Amino acid sequence: MASLTIRKLDEAIKTELRLRAARNGRSVEDEVRVILRDAAQHKLAGTAALPSAPQPALPRQRGTMAGEQPRVTLIIGGGIAAYKALDLIRRLKERGLHVRCVLTRAAQQFVTPLAASALSNERCYTDLFDPASEFDAGHIRLARDCELIVVAPATADLMAKMAQGHADDLATAILLATNRPILLAPAMNPLMWNNAATRRNVAQLIRDGVVTIGPNAGEMAEANEAGVGRMSEPIEIADAALQMLRPPQPRPLTGKRVLITAGPTHEPIDPVRYIANRSSGKQGFAIAAAAQAAGADVTLISGPVDLDDPAGVTVKHVESARDMLQQVEAALPVDVAIFAAAVADWRVVNEGVQKLKKTAGGLPQLELTENPDILATIARLRERRPPLVIGFAAETEHLMDNAKAKLARKGCDWIVANDVSPATGVMGGDRNTVHLLSKQGDEVRIESWPVMSKDEVAVALVERIAATAKDTSA
Ligand SMILES: Cc1cc2nc3c(=O)[nH]c(=O)nc-3n(C[C@H](O)[C@H](O)[C@H](O)COP(=O)(O)O)c2cc1C
Repeated sequence: MASLTIRKLDEAIKTELRLRAARNGRSVEDEVRVILRDAAQHKLAGTAALPSAPQPALPRQRGTMAGEQPRVTLIIGGGIAAYKALDLIRRLKERGLHVRCVLTRAAQQFVTPLAASALSNERCYTDLFDPASEFDAGHIRLARDCELIVVAPATADLMAKMAQGHADDLATAILLATNRPILLAPAMNPLMWNNAATRRNVAQLIRDGVVTIGPNAGEMAEANEAGVGRMSEPIEIADAALQMLRPPQPRPLTGKRVLITAGPTHEPIDPVRYIANRSSGKQGFAIAAAAQAAGADVTLISGPVDLDDPAGVTVKHVESARDMLQQVEAALPVDVAIFAAAVADWRVVNEGVQKLKKTAGGLPQLELTENPDILATIARLRERRPPLVIGFAAETEHLMDNAKAKLARKGCDWIVANDVSPATGVMGGDRNTVHLLSKQGDEVRIESWPVMSKDEVAVALVERIAATAKDTSA
């Protein structure tokens, strides 16, 4: 089998690959593998792969914009990626946006206000106590006379200050005084990014409604360092900014209550050990985010996962199947219930109160009992049964037969079936190949969707729900 050295590829192709990899949260090598696999599959299916569509410039809007252009206040933080912010100015302008730059004191160690003004064709701002701009409260103008604030690079320090509500320089004062949407493009050393303080601050900012893009995985400016921490590419940030400036999309699930379960459950053996499974929770979280974006009032009940809570969603964290059922019942009534969690089928009856000890006398005997069947319990409710109940069938063999049997046995309306055998990489991975089985009278209708990212599966499922949920309510 031939091998491919990515380093030797053309620069433009490498850049495109890095962007795709970053967008999909994969390493460049994994991205190449996925592209080759998809290309092979498409060829087998006789279809051509669709290139991702470039984002068109925003149509000029009247009323709120200076010179009819949407305005962006770009705050450049003091990180090594500040040099990329200069390219970002160009990319934002290419997309028809008017850009005004603010540089922190630290940013000026990396790029000059002169370069930012020359590229933006605008005065650049650096000082909170600048008499020339503060005679008419310049920081408030910079905070409000725009449609979007972009922070790139968003340093660990800037995010910590934002999360705490500091306002001791121009950048933080603008960020505190604004009522405009904020897009952060974090960039820092991977250890800084993974530091518990940064994780807390980012989670808080997301809860506060701030949107983040990246950071990407890759090589760091520091020699011999790699990991997650590279600022997203200027094109990615500019596209995300454009997306945030677009008129709000239709929200077909407005007024609908949607309940989603996600992740594994942990069934205790003793205070330190448990039975678990490999579910990452990514698919359920993606559905929760997609349903929220479609306007639904979303409650997500999640087993233990390593994912940030989606913005705008009520999240209940649980451990065991019994806790999950309790929270599900407490969340009723809902219009739609989607059971994407990989709930453990069994739990230990004789759970140890103390840590089980290794003894010379032999192995501990774990007696198992069945866990409550959450999907079947809710699907068979007489009162408060959600009008649309959707289950997931994760199977490693006989996918369709098992999924059809599950649809009949559980009493739900739809089953989303996916093959989770190890070779698919679905468990814990970012892509999914699903089949939607729905009851049509006595018949079962089956739709097989192409391989998609879990986010795309979520959007497609939510669109399908929206089309059905029009006429249903709890
Ligand atoms: C050479 C150098 C590179 C730095 N790169 C980063 C970086 O990429 N990300 C980051 O969060 N901080 C970085 N720092 C630390 C910030 O500059 C420092 O935390 C500063 O206070 C940030 O100020 P600001 O958030 O007001 O821009 C770097 C510092 C130095 C000296």
